[in-house]
Amino acid sequence: MLSDIQQEIIRLKKEKDTVILAHCYQTHDILECADFVGDSFGLAQKACTTDAANVIMCGVRFMGETVKILCPEKRVLMPCEEAGCPMAEQLDAEMLAQLKESLPGYKVVAYINTTAALKTLCDVCVTSSSAVKIIRRMDADKILFIPDCNLGDYVKKQIPEKEIKLVQGGCPTHARLTAQDVREAKKSHPKALLLVHPECRPDVAELADFVGSTTEIMDFAAKSSENEFIIGTENSIVQHLGINYPEKLFYPLSKDCVCHNMRVTTIADLLHTLQGKSGFEITMEESERLAAKRCIDEMLRLGNE
Ligand code: 13P
Ligand code: SF4
Repeated sequence: MLSDIQQEIIRLKKEKDTVILAHCYQTHDILECADFVGDSFGLAQKACTTDAANVIMCGVRFMGETVKILCPEKRVLMPCEEAGCPMAEQLDAEMLAQLKESLPGYKVVAYINTTAALKTLCDVCVTSSSAVKIIRRMDADKILFIPDCNLGDYVKKQIPEKEIKLVQGGCPTHARLTAQDVREAKKSHPKALLLVHPECRPDVAELADFVGSTTEIMDFAAKSSENEFIIGTENSIVQHLGINYPEKLFYPLSKDCVCHNMRVTTIADLLHTLQGKSGFEITMEESERLAAKRCIDEMLRLGNE
């Protein structure tokens, strides 16, 4: 049963020719109002397939930028200006330009969780689910991978034949998960499978039964014949899985795996954005958009090879 505020959001989004995108780390009440739920790149692609003039992206800023890069004709709004991603913003264009200068001959691969400004300086973009496949297919043996050293380490282990340089840094939320959390969770739930995101530290990923992106973790849990799972990613996923599959049991790897940047957007912010009372628009110079789009186009080309 939808609340009054949710019903008003659904009425207004139709009236205002707006599609609502929600990253799966958003709260369940926001997911229930969304037209599309998923990961950042999948959401941006879905937004482009609609005729809607306006898009509200419930997530963090780089996700709104990705929508704008792919569908420039749409007005892209974020409900909450504070919703940034510390990993996406950990390097700026000047720092990356210096790094590139110190590593001649290296191709730069950017995780999609980067700002548009950084993407303008990168050769290829990847998502957490496509990183291994794309880097394997690249016609380059020397790679600088930014900005997540944990996802980078995971990729490096799958592709030992390439020289992959990493930068220090990554997702502060996933980095909170430790091997000690794994030992404790496995002791409490000995029958459960451990599913983790590749943004987790290497010693956590090595102990997992499955490593995958958020949507891959959700698909794995849905399709598995097993009934108990320890979830090593943002804890909203534990809640969504519990609601979607009440016959199965889901446990958080740690109660601390909460992304405050994702949680800062509330259902009230979403309503206020539709009412024109708050929200901010993602804008971008056309030259920046085109430069940032190149590495996304290259990801699509390599992905379809
Ligand atoms: P994905 O699994 O969709 O890559 O999401 C990870 C994440 O941290 C998004 O901010
Ligand atoms: Fe950024 Fe990590 Fe939060 Fe995702 S979970 S938005 S990568 S801080």
